[in-house]
Amino acid sequence: MVCIAPSILSADFSKLREEVIALEQAGADMLHLDVMDGHYVPNLTFGPQIIKAVRECTRLPLDVHLMVTSPDEMLEWFVAAGADNITVHAETCPHLDKTLQTIHSLGVKAGVSLNPETSEKVLEYVLDKIDLVLVMTVNPGFGGQTFIKEQLQKINRICEMRQDRHFKIEVDGGINAQTGAECVAAGADILVAGTAVFAGGNYKDNIKALR
Ligand code: DX5
Ligand code: ZN
Repeated sequence: MVCIAPSILSADFSKLREEVIALEQAGADMLHLDVMDGHYVPNLTFGPQIIKAVRECTRLPLDVHLMVTSPDEMLEWFVAAGADNITVHAETCPHLDKTLQTIHSLGVKAGVSLNPETSEKVLEYVLDKIDLVLVMTVNPGFGGQTFIKEQLQKINRICEMRQDRHFKIEVDGGINAQTGAECVAAGADILVAGTAVFAGGNYKDNIKALR
């Protein structure tokens, strides 16, 4: 069963509570929260305060995607705010193994995200320490970009590396019914989608189409 994780980046922030409740009622399996610091990516979104507010509106798992230069300094903030998963970019962690241990010691699930140009090989020695791999299928920073199809091969390879481990493979960026199906065929378990979930305002039908 594929999981659908709407990204609230495409939500109307002037009515965030209604948006979160609507996503839950429309059948979202978890909510994806894109934290951007204006340094690591050329966009600035929100921090723990907004995540805490979202936490108060829903019981869905909160999947926090940190696109920040120094995630190590911020992990505790996001756990305190109510994150269930924290995903860091491998490219931002000089001591990835240690970062993953810290995330687990804080009591939440640990994910590693890979930019389109980053090889899955960086995962080789942390495979037993991850709950989630987030394959970026666009360059991080903005919603509404075009899916990078070369990433399908990476999903396939990570699937092979997984063997009998239980971590999930999540994809993020340019996911719609067609690209989502290609990712699932390649081995993805979780589809993140912003544009495709919010387009036209019928979240239920949009989530159904992705599933
Ligand atoms: C991009 C973010 C994504 C973004 C996806 O850096 O990580 O989660 O919201 O948006 P769409 O689905 O519009 O490509
Ligand atoms: Zn994301």
